[in-house]
Amino acid sequence: MDLSEVNLLINEIKNTEIDGDESLQVFKKKYNDILKKKLYDLKNLDPEEKKEYGVFINKLKNAIDTKYKESVQKINSVKKIKTDFFDYSLPYVPFVGELHPLTVLRNKLFSIFKKLGFDIVDGCEVEDDWHNFTALNFLQDHPARDMQDTFFINNSKKNVLRTHTTSVQAQILEKYELPLRAITIGRVYRNETVSARSNCFFTQFDGFYVDKKVSFLDLQYVFSEIIKNLFGNDIKMRIRPSYFPFTSPSVEVDISCTVCSQKGCPICKNSGWLEVWGGGLIHENVLKNCKVDHKIYSGFAFGGGLERLAMLIYRINDLRMFAINDVRFLSFF
Ligand code: DAH
Repeated sequence: MDLSEVNLLINEIKNTEIDGDESLQVFKKKYNDILKKKLYDLKNLDPEEKKEYGVFINKLKNAIDTKYKESVQKINSVKKIKTDFFDYSLPYVPFVGELHPLTVLRNKLFSIFKKLGFDIVDGCEVEDDWHNFTALNFLQDHPARDMQDTFFINNSKKNVLRTHTTSVQAQILEKYELPLRAITIGRVYRNETVSARSNCFFTQFDGFYVDKKVSFLDLQYVFSEIIKNLFGNDIKMRIRPSYFPFTSPSVEVDISCTVCSQKGCPICKNSGWLEVWGGGLIHENVLKNCKVDHKIYSGFAFGGGLERLAMLIYRINDLRMFAINDVRFLSFF
């Protein structure tokens, strides 16, 4: 019997949408059958294992009971509202909306970065080739410049819908005096097929720090601070080598799996690690292209998908949910 599977089931139960009697019955049947099967499997285990798995099976049972009771209450209260007499003398109570989960996360990231001394900057979604690609050390024949990945404006190769927020780094480095420590969050566009894992537009965060003597140690310190603030002190961080044209050396940052605590589960593909963002020391050519004296200044940069972080933090498994504005989904946060 697999413990992480039970954890995943509990998670699935919590996130199940139950909006009426019919879906309540489907829920009840599905999870009671699963529970029965698990209880049956328990019989074949030896006493020690039985004890350990018994605790988990209890958790599963409690999750089913709680979800069932909450849903009955919710359904009944909706029925009540529908049948209740409407009192026209009541004062008007406006419907108060909720913040979008990406806005909640963006605000959280901004407050973490402010504490670390970063400025919040903004850029344009329509970008020229120089800031999106050339200044960032993309060679002329780099595949990212291809029509397959990039939306070009008016079919000219001069302007694009930015494919990443790293373009803001080039803009800011060119315009402002050093030292600079900045973070941006915004929408980016890629010519990709829409699925649960990818969309043709999504949100990225991108930050950088350029000063005299900025080193890999600064990068490690800032990364571990962000991770602690976002995921808590118990999460482990791992840095592995990677490649981006605009950084050298380049790295990919992983955190210990927040779902199975590294026991192995489908979310981390049994590796125990989840990739969160990319980064590295800013490539000499980028500094030169942005008129920064690379003999005096150095820096690090990082960036990644905001939806990806939100999916890990809020346990959402479909990227499209962020874009469809379903009030039921939004009111969850
Ligand atoms: N631009 C990269 C992407 O779209 C993410 C990224 C990686 C940004 C490394 C950075 C960086 O600033 O240093 O996937």
